[in-house]
Amino acid sequence: MDKYYDHIIHGGDYNPDQWIDTKEVWDEDLRLMDLAKINSATVGIFAWSLLEPEEGVFNFPWLNEVMDKLASHGKKVVLATPSGARPPWMAQKYPEVLRVEESGARNEYGVRHNHCPTSPVYREKTARINRRLAERYKGHPALFMWHVSNEYSGECHCELCQKAFRAWLKKEYHNSLDELNFKWWNGFWSHRFTDWDEISSPKYRGENHVPALKLAWRRFVTEQHLSFYRNEIEPLRELTPDVPVTTNMMRLYKGINYHKFAPYVDVVSWDNYPDWTNGDNADPAAETAFVHDVFRSMKDGKPFYLMESTPSIVNHKPVNRLLKSGVQELAAIQAVAHGADSVQYFQWRKSRGGHEKFHGAAVDHVGNENTRVFRDVSRLGGVLERLDAVVGARTEAHAAIVYDWENAWATEFFCGYHNARRDYDKICQSWYRAFLRRGIPVDVIPADRDFSKYGLVAAPFLYLLGDGVADRIKEYVKNGGRFIATYLTGIVDRDDLCFRGGFPGAGLREVFGVWAEETDSLGEGEYNTVSFGGKTYRAENTCDVLHAEGARILSAYETASFYAGSPAVTVNGYGKGYAYYAAFRPEQAFIDDFCGGLIDELGLVPDAPFPLPDGVFARKRGDVLFVMNFSGGERTVALDREYRDVVSGESCGGGTVLPENGYLILA
Ligand code: GLA
Ligand code: ZN
Repeated sequence: MDKYYDHIIHGGDYNPDQWIDTKEVWDEDLRLMDLAKINSATVGIFAWSLLEPEEGVFNFPWLNEVMDKLASHGKKVVLATPSGARPPWMAQKYPEVLRVEESGARNEYGVRHNHCPTSPVYREKTARINRRLAERYKGHPALFMWHVSNEYSGECHCELCQKAFRAWLKKEYHNSLDELNFKWWNGFWSHRFTDWDEISSPKYRGENHVPALKLAWRRFVTEQHLSFYRNEIEPLRELTPDVPVTTNMMRLYKGINYHKFAPYVDVVSWDNYPDWTNGDNADPAAETAFVHDVFRSMKDGKPFYLMESTPSIVNHKPVNRLLKSGVQELAAIQAVAHGADSVQYFQWRKSRGGHEKFHGAAVDHVGNENTRVFRDVSRLGGVLERLDAVVGARTEAHAAIVYDWENAWATEFFCGYHNARRDYDKICQSWYRAFLRRGIPVDVIPADRDFSKYGLVAAPFLYLLGDGVADRIKEYVKNGGRFIATYLTGIVDRDDLCFRGGFPGAGLREVFGVWAEETDSLGEGEYNTVSFGGKTYRAENTCDVLHAEGARILSAYETASFYAGSPAVTVNGYGKGYAYYAAFRPEQAFIDDFCGGLIDELGLVPDAPFPLPDGVFARKRGDVLFVMNFSGGERTVALDREYRDVVSGESCGGGTVLPENGYLILA
């Protein structure tokens, strides 16, 4: 199913459990929610100590009341499981539920997200409370979706986790220490293991120089969080099979490979807190667009939920500046344009005490509707009510950027070349931007995804090639695809073992028709120059020294010494397709022009059939076109025909002025 509701969900984290002693606030909340056109509330994320005040003693009357009240106002409840934080009694009685840090010290009770994902006790306790919740609220008219835990993250180094890690390694390496020693290249520094118990998690004061171990550990940590999550959802699936399940993810957080979660959630959801400014927001908007597309692509384009965003400011940046009205509204519209079927906030009402009491909320401490933020939220609520047509709609993309968690890990872990600045995320985002500025929709996919539906795939800095990836690139190009690779591509396999026989390895040398003999690193401010299509560009940071072996040279370095004669940009006809290699880290202008040429050649169709001024982005969902002005100033767009503005209902065409932070939603 692509949609779960006929309207865009407008809501957010709602914590009536914090107001149990001043319950008059609950009724006021409902009055205000109606006013702000809020149709949903996410309840109970951190409510465990109220739900189970003593071990095995459950307290649901308060939540019954909340659920009933919300239902009576027609609100959809995104009901949370409470495992993100636990009651003090549990930690006191079962210390094993708490996390152990790298040093081996067990954390004391406190904060949140401080649990061991392996602990059988914690798994049992979470499954039990989740079962109770599902039993109690199955069939409740307000129950709409499950919000499982909160932002799974971090890692635990306790003995239970170490044991589980070893068991996981045994499975991964076919119960063979020889295989593991070989793949991890443990002859280096004499690290050959002779007993599985000699292996433990990477630690600051222990083993932290074996990239393969670090990769294995991240894979294991992902697996452990995932199996914890699967344990959490078992009772939910059993008792409420029709209620969709999600868990909220955090941007491009690297502790977990989020792609592994995607098959096990019904709806992908994420929490968005960009660094918006009161001026030009093109950069944060481009970065955020990328992240939206990462999550949109996670379930093949199925709409995702924007589970959290702030309606005003956050409290956790060094300086938490107020934003002009319009900035958050545009951010919300951007999320919908990129595939979100919800705009949800952290948080509905500011808490009176605790760590987050100054974090933005729809309702401030003053407690009424007479605030700027409340008016902003209400106005947006009115806009979202007009967007039923986009709910469930997918975006068709014919180009993709490969952005791969495993590769992100590997490029973080290896030692060598440009150790100071690798910037894998930024590099992928700069290739993405070339498409965004032209209004070409792109998917952002991991390397193990099927490429065949795309006319063009760019995989910047694909240093690590997981099993089968090289073969799939080969097949893809052979069958007519166009694949772009850059410097340091195809260097290692999934265990960070270098390919033998020249880079790009694993057979890609033949596909790209090049051999990268050496790789140079340049300091800040240093660059080589490369001419391409009559213009000169800077090649920065990392530059391969290349030999063409059949590839056509599109450009060579204009630098002497060992660069002399080295191609910088090549294309190789392979089968029915073309494999491009850009041997260096380019400035944005090169990427824009290079991809621009390919976009034209392939006839990729932009979402907006009119030119987009700088800082104005466009995205189509179904038949609705969103045009968004992040430039920080006024911009005029030359519409190609008459459209109906979905918000005002009026028609518009010709030169249409977009004020600062303005947008058009066109049908
Ligand atoms: C995260 C958490 C929320 C809250 C917000 C604050 O996303 O999930 O509980 O702490 O950050 O920005
Ligand atoms: Zn543990």
